[in-house]
Amino acid sequence: MNVNLQRMSEIINLPELSPELRLELEKLIKATDKELEIALFKLDRTEKVKRTTAILLEETIEELELKRKAVEDSNLALQKSLEELKATQQQLIQSEKMASLGELTAGIAHEIQNPLNFVNNFSEVSMELFDEITEERNKKQEARDDGLEAEILADIRQNLEKINHHGKRADAIVKGMLEHSRSSAGEKQPTDINALADEFLRLAYHGLRAKDKSFNAILKTDFEESIGKVEVVSQDIGRVILNLLTNAFYTVNQKKQRNPEGYEPTVSIGTKKTGNQVEITISDNGNGIPPSAIDKIFQPFFTTKPTGEGTGLGLSLAYDIVKAHGGELYVASVAGTGSTFTIKLPVQ
Ligand SMILES: Nc1ncnc2c1ncn2[C@@H]1O[C@H](COP(=O)(O)OP(=O)(O)O)[C@@H](O)[C@H]1O
Ligand SMILES: [Mg+2]
Repeated sequence: MNVNLQRMSEIINLPELSPELRLELEKLIKATDKELEIALFKLDRTEKVKRTTAILLEETIEELELKRKAVEDSNLALQKSLEELKATQQQLIQSEKMASLGELTAGIAHEIQNPLNFVNNFSEVSMELFDEITEERNKKQEARDDGLEAEILADIRQNLEKINHHGKRADAIVKGMLEHSRSSAGEKQPTDINALADEFLRLAYHGLRAKDKSFNAILKTDFEESIGKVEVVSQDIGRVILNLLTNAFYTVNQKKQRNPEGYEPTVSIGTKKTGNQVEITISDNGNGIPPSAIDKIFQPFFTTKPTGEGTGLGLSLAYDIVKAHGGELYVASVAGTGSTFTIKLPVQ
């Protein structure tokens, strides 16, 4: 028993206390003693619970640590496969770029053919002139016509200028082609969007015609002259335009082969300025896109074309490029009637 209670028990027995008070005090002491015992028991139990909890806590911490390590490991594995995925993606994008370069090659060959014809013709004519002047010079002094010699020399000079001019044209075309094949991220530069659109329209069309001589389409352009130059990575936006045009030519060609009554395959490209945006639209009167496919066309690898004719990367690549320019790319299409793709680019 608690010492204080002990002492109180002794006091109870003093003769001065009345028997009633003594009885009451005795009861109180017993009750207090009981309560104290219970309190002690509870304290002991709490102590035990505390110790058990501490042990459990320690175990939990160990387990958590193990789990953290596992998560770390799988994070590393994920990171690695993400990197591998990115590398594969990069390779695919690269091959898509090379594929579109392939499409361009035919168009470019067509473009180069023209200046080359000039170079060949003018150099042949110059050789003939050269022979003429040599003949004249071989004559006796008194039979020679100085005026004629001067004329021929002037002609040769003019021809050389033309050869030079057309040589430079071919040079510019080849430079443009090299620019297109460069894979590094280009820099933004002020670009004449109308000229870019026009160039790629011709390249894409002649590219297709070089492969399929029977193919013909009506090309329509509607360029707003006042749009001025826009800050873009020109190779990239060129590629977007080319991808959209290639799709447009493909679909009108498909439709043409089914030969619907009075069908005239038509592909249009236009530009306009709206507020602080420049809009490039590419339309075709081809097969259109059914509602079931329209949500998927911008997804990488979505294609409805047979293997070898489509990678399904053209539109997703185009979408990424336009997004990287802070712009938008969207489509409006009526199945069976045609499609219009719109590129919106911000201008500063
Ligand atoms: N102008 C269009 N007209 C009809 N369908 C189109 C047009 N452009 C794109 N598509 C559809 O979107 C799909 C994805 O296009 P794209 O990403 O360029 O890949 P690919 O041309 O290699 O198939 C095409 O397979 C086609 O079904
Ligand atoms: Mg395509």
